[in-house]
Amino acid sequence: MVTYLEAGSAPLKNTGQIRLYDEAAFEGMRKACRLTATCLDELAAIVQPGVSTDTIDRFVFEYGMDHDAIPATLNYRGYTKSSCTSINHVVCHGIPDSKPLREGDIVNIDVTLIVDGWHGDSSRMYPVGRIKRAAERLLEVTHECMMRGIAAIRPGARTGAIGAAIQTYGEAERCSVVRDFCGHGVGLLFHDAPNILHYGTPGEGVEMRPGMIFTVEPMINLGRPHVKVLSDGWTAVTRDRSLSAQYEHTIGVTDNGCEIFTLSPGGLDRPGLPA
Ligand code: MF3
Ligand code: CO
Ligand code: CO
Repeated sequence: MVTYLEAGSAPLKNTGQIRLYDEAAFEGMRKACRLTATCLDELAAIVQPGVSTDTIDRFVFEYGMDHDAIPATLNYRGYTKSSCTSINHVVCHGIPDSKPLREGDIVNIDVTLIVDGWHGDSSRMYPVGRIKRAAERLLEVTHECMMRGIAAIRPGARTGAIGAAIQTYGEAERCSVVRDFCGHGVGLLFHDAPNILHYGTPGEGVEMRPGMIFTVEPMINLGRPHVKVLSDGWTAVTRDRSLSAQYEHTIGVTDNGCEIFTLSPGGLDRPGLPA
């Protein structure tokens, strides 16, 4: 049995119950998510051949410090960076390091900034210089998957409708959906109930209600869906080394659909692709 509860009166840990947030919480999330989205906007000008992911990570840290925000990944379950940077066949949770990005790479930058306790979680793909047509197509398909998943969000529907929309489109485009990672409730906690699967059928999952806040963050591969985690304990890669892409928005369920909190203020939701 799934239960829902008013977020304000609930303990600050993931008990499996689904928090329903009020308008004041939505205001808090708008602010945190806008800051995250603006940080991702600024990164569009920084991502270039020769720039290291450590440089990107340092920018995210400084950006947080300059705006009274804390990167949620810092010291999260032993993770020590302010962002995740996942290049080419890295599916997610790539750890920033000193290696320079190279022309033709595609990199996902995933940032979560905490403002006044509210978590704004979002990621985008960034092309490094000119990229191949196949890579560009993967970015287009992955962004469209996320947006189709978001379009399925409305009160009364189940979270399975999100996964079904993503899987149907992604597989029709001859890509595959990663099963090992999912979207999640977010708000006062970084990772909360419910899990949002990026595959499945509309009858699965929990019923969506106004006030729920969660992420939609599909990982889509050009090859097969299977992943493995490297010995660093974080970096997830495609087993067949095929290219992988991911976009992530934080959304809130409203009375008649949803509000996307992490939309780009600068029109840079798809850096390097037509707006
Ligand atoms: N931001 C990621 C997400 O979308 C989580 C990263 S956790 C980390 O949920 F520890 F790997 F940074
Ligand atoms: Co997330
Ligand atoms: Co994220």
